[in-house]
Amino acid sequence: MTKFNIAIDGPAGAGKSTIARKVAGELGFVYVDTGAMYRAVTWKVLQDGVNPLDTEAVARTAAGMKIELVPGPDGQLVFVDGRDVSSDIRTKLVTDRVSQIAAIAEVRKLLVDKQKQMAASKGIVMDGRDIGTHVLPDAEVKVFLTASVRKRAERRFQEVQGTAMATTLEEMEKDIARRDMLDEGREVSPLVQAADAVMLDSTDLTIPEVVESILEMCRMRTGGE
Ligand code: DC
Repeated sequence: MTKFNIAIDGPAGAGKSTIARKVAGELGFVYVDTGAMYRAVTWKVLQDGVNPLDTEAVARTAAGMKIELVPGPDGQLVFVDGRDVSSDIRTKLVTDRVSQIAAIAEVRKLLVDKQKQMAASKGIVMDGRDIGTHVLPDAEVKVFLTASVRKRAERRFQEVQGTAMATTLEEMEKDIARRDMLDEGREVSPLVQAADAVMLDSTDLTIPEVVESILEMCRMRTGGE
């Protein structure tokens, strides 16, 4: 199949990473989780004791660190300056701070430039919040994946059961609503559906159904090549 790029955007917990990874696997494309890059910067800021409110210091930290995304057996691995931080970037501490760091214009510019480079050779499935609107405005397939707040909270709740991140469903729902507000309300590249993106509401769909819908969009886009 000819190589092309797929942009998948949507709010927290809509299932973007699971779906994007499976679509990439089906097509033999490379999956890029851009949220992990914002999480990596947030982790480094916390690790180095940088004040998250000091935007210049945060931007300097982001500019001075090396982020590598490496495909692993159970998903994408994330390295910062050679250290595997794949699980460190998923802690509650990082999750609570990441929206604030992702709202800093200088940080976004740095990471968006890097993401554009990663997609230059095509054959990429990239998920995030601004992929169809800013990072890959020319992506051949654009999806805006969403689901109700309740459903997204339920999915996350099940995901973190028995882990250190376990919390109540109500807490999870509040956290998701708070992140939606921050991601949609920020000045720089707020989460918004691209005019030419196809909206997929996964509230009542299974993972294979969502994957199949996207593969069908790809077949239509490429004429089934
Ligand atoms: O998808 P996630 O939960 O790992 O994303 C972490 C944070 O990064 C979330 O608050 C939104 C932000 N983000 C962003 O602003 N732009 C992206 N392209 C990806 C994520």
